[in-house]
Amino acid sequence: MVYLYDDQLIMLFNNKTIHLEDSLIHIGTGAIKELNNYLKHYKNNKKVKFFILVDENSIKYCLPLLVNQVKILNRAEIIEVESGENNKNIHVCIELWQTLSKYEANRKSVFINLGGGVICDMGGFVASVFKRGIEFIHIPTTLLAQVDASIGGKLGVNLDLIKNEIGLFKNPSQVIVYPWFLKTLGKREFLSGFAEIIKHALIADTTYWKKILKTKLSDETEILKLIHHSIEIKQAIVQKDSKEQNQRKLLNFGHTIGHALESYFLEKKEITLLHGEAIAAGMICESYISYKKNKLSRADLQEITLFINSLYKPITFKKEEEIRLVELMRHDKKNEGNDINFTLLLKIGKAEFNKTGSVELIRDSFKYYHEQYKLQKV
Ligand SMILES: NC(=O)c1ccc[n+]([C@@H]2O[C@H](COP(=O)([O-])OP(=O)(O)OC[C@H]3O[C@@H](n4cnc5c(N)ncnc54)[C@H](O)[C@@H]3O)[C@@H](O)[C@H]2O)c1
Ligand SMILES: [Zn+2]
Repeated sequence: MVYLYDDQLIMLFNNKTIHLEDSLIHIGTGAIKELNNYLKHYKNNKKVKFFILVDENSIKYCLPLLVNQVKILNRAEIIEVESGENNKNIHVCIELWQTLSKYEANRKSVFINLGGGVICDMGGFVASVFKRGIEFIHIPTTLLAQVDASIGGKLGVNLDLIKNEIGLFKNPSQVIVYPWFLKTLGKREFLSGFAEIIKHALIADTTYWKKILKTKLSDETEILKLIHHSIEIKQAIVQKDSKEQNQRKLLNFGHTIGHALESYFLEKKEITLLHGEAIAAGMICESYISYKKNKLSRADLQEITLFINSLYKPITFKKEEEIRLVELMRHDKKNEGNDINFTLLLKIGKAEFNKTGSVELIRDSFKYYHEQYKLQKV
């Protein structure tokens, strides 16, 4: 609703294309034109079936814009699922595979994910194992999906409460990052995506961090530049280590604690916590652990805490709930043996992976997190 993109921007980002292994990432207003070009070769082949996966928001806000500009997609079957992290599971996938079977999807079909990270993660997974894999395209429509979830080929669903426990690595043939979709995004969802932008700066780029500190979130020109730079940071990391054997683990900063918070509040069902909101809290706690265990300076810790606290509301949980949170952390895919694995900061703009943290330190970081919000209120 808030973000508009003017003509100057259209010029600036019209034809930006990044190559990532076997997929192409098109960023900017010209991205839709690129999709049109790409799908052209299906025009005379009426046998190729298109499927577009949407949720109740992307069908309303994004689908009309898409089919209006990409006429060939008028012939697509639209498959709608309910939005939300609690629907990113294998049961919904089974329904999707049944629907594909019913519509006689085959190896030549093209599956398009139009939505946020939930749609991209789950839709990509559904497509990449259906009949041992059909082509899929990501059209991310949230800030989070544009700067993070659609890039790098991680696909999958949650298993009960365990985040992304089932999945695989596979790149879409195309990623269409079209900024106009963000116009209808709510402020809360926008900020959730901004958390991954903060993460990209903290792990990889001091200058970028300084830039985002000064960026007005209502400034569309600047936001579009951030989208572009965040994609570049993520794809540069992924390119070096697509299967997360080493370097790619850097992108998990804030996620050991963040994922546990996300799972915990999914289980609790009282409030919905967005992915980025959980990661924002996780980044404060893991910065504290970085300060205690690694070389992060007190000044850097304070700068990170103040900035994140200025954007996100505190997540409240009691001391007795911490045991469950730590238990959930034990499921993290990055753990080896009994230790809980973290990516920690050395300084703003530089991180290290395969670091461990004790339960005591994790609980201290929760204390720090809560105290900082209290301090801010005074
Ligand atoms: N694969 C990866 O590398 C990766 C990286 C980061 C996050 N993720 C995953 O991404 C998911 C979170 O993604 P998300 O924040 O996009 O969540 P989401 O997909 O749930 O979308 C958030 C909300 O925005 C709505 N929405 C989508 N597009 C809209 C638009 N243009 N206008 C208005 N409303 C719109 C959705 O319907 C939903 O209600 C999590 O499951 C997380 O684990 C994956
Ligand atoms: Zn994330």
